[in-house]
Amino acid sequence: MTSGYVLSDEVLDHKINEPAYPKKSSYKAEKSLNDLDLFTKGQPVDFYKELRDNAPIYFHDPMPTDPEPGYWVLTRHEDIKYVSMNPKIFSSQYATGNLLTLGTEENRHPKLFKSTIDHMLNLDGEMHLGLRKEHMPFFKPGYVEELQKKVSIKVGQLLDQIAPLGECNLVKEVSQQLPIYTLSEILGIPEADRQKLVSWMEFLELAQYFAVEQIKQQNEGITDSSPDPAMIDLFNSMVDEMFDYGKHILLKKRKNPENDLLSAIANAKIEGEELTQEFLDGSWLLIVFAGNDTTRNTISGGIKLLHDNQDQKELLIKNPDYLPNFINETIRCVSPVIHMRRTSLEETEINGQRIGPYEKIALWYGAANRDPEIFDDPDRFNILRENSDKHLAFGIGRHTCLGKPVALMQLKEFYLQFLARFPDFEMSGEWKVAPNNFVHAIQEMPIKFLPKS
Ligand code: HEM
Repeated sequence: MTSGYVLSDEVLDHKINEPAYPKKSSYKAEKSLNDLDLFTKGQPVDFYKELRDNAPIYFHDPMPTDPEPGYWVLTRHEDIKYVSMNPKIFSSQYATGNLLTLGTEENRHPKLFKSTIDHMLNLDGEMHLGLRKEHMPFFKPGYVEELQKKVSIKVGQLLDQIAPLGECNLVKEVSQQLPIYTLSEILGIPEADRQKLVSWMEFLELAQYFAVEQIKQQNEGITDSSPDPAMIDLFNSMVDEMFDYGKHILLKKRKNPENDLLSAIANAKIEGEELTQEFLDGSWLLIVFAGNDTTRNTISGGIKLLHDNQDQKELLIKNPDYLPNFINETIRCVSPVIHMRRTSLEETEINGQRIGPYEKIALWYGAANRDPEIFDDPDRFNILRENSDKHLAFGIGRHTCLGKPVALMQLKEFYLQFLARFPDFEMSGEWKVAPNNFVHAIQEMPIKFLPKS
């Protein structure tokens, strides 16, 4: 292992403050964004509206896993944009750019705990730009165009497999398979190993639920309840397996680099030094999770939106040229990444609310994307909406999603072929969404259609 920069060691010593100034709004909501069940019926858009209308900068109680004080909730598009565009005031590095709670080390899988911190999403300034630059060649237009040819063939094969069945769980058969394929091509993961990523992803989507439930049980002195201990053991062994695999393949690519993103990560440098094992683990986790889960849930989420809005479905099938706008509108409505986090570094103000240094701020993208100040009739799914590309689902500013072109390309290939082959599709049962307030994790999407040989 190389010596060098380990962000998680610093972050753990950083203290988050209680609000330094009085709250502008005295509104007290009954519901809580910490209630993971709230997210199992889709995003709580009515609650976002309630907060936006009554207290657009709302100070929220901490998560049960959180030793820090609570967090400011931003629900307005303009405020979320402002914070994202001012990284010198609102840091991603001081206490991470993604974690609503750091939890405590003893309550987390040790590897998972550090590696949710040691990656570029949680860096500011030059260190962030340097690491982001190493990833760039694999997201440029020329590279993505070449990749599109392979993705198009893969979509065809996946749809060939479901065609004779007449029904399937789309998540299992397609939504989770396509992003794994695409990401594995970018990363340089051998074909024989790709299915492992599918299982790891399913467990990672439940990580937050496991952590929160375990803490609740400790706090409440409960000894026998869900999640069942065997499930937790399985979760831990899956996470171990995922990190062991990442370590093995990254070290292999460090020794024998190839033309792929894992080789670029393995040989990247921070401040002139090779990435530490902690940063290799973290970068592995970030790319596997960010590159998979988001696109997977947008594929499934779009299917539900079309099912629930038959007029829009017909319009799209008659006018495939509307596909790019349909994709923007789908991403706006689904907002697969539910929030990100920043920390104030100095005395500042957001929309009239004074904020002191080292306070926690959470950006609720799903709320920004339904802000009526920007989107007319925001709860309506409208594939002709003129400004649907103004959504913030990919973030904005220095940390804007690096994978955006790859995500858009996959969504286009999937919907183009799927709607041409299965225009009669319908949902054939209830969808299932994991209890998670970080990613909108659709785990089941039953559909039926006329079987084709
Ligand atoms: C619909 C699909 C996707 C959505 C909605 C999405 C959303 C996001 C969001 C909200 C951020 C953080 C922005 C911020 O903190 O300001 C992000 C960052 C990131 N995403 Fe995505 N993402 C998607 C697909 C992908 C894909 C396919 C990949 C890779 C193949 C990817 C890789 C990344 C990486 C590496 C970062 C970190 C960028 C940085 O810190 O500079 N994402 N994404």
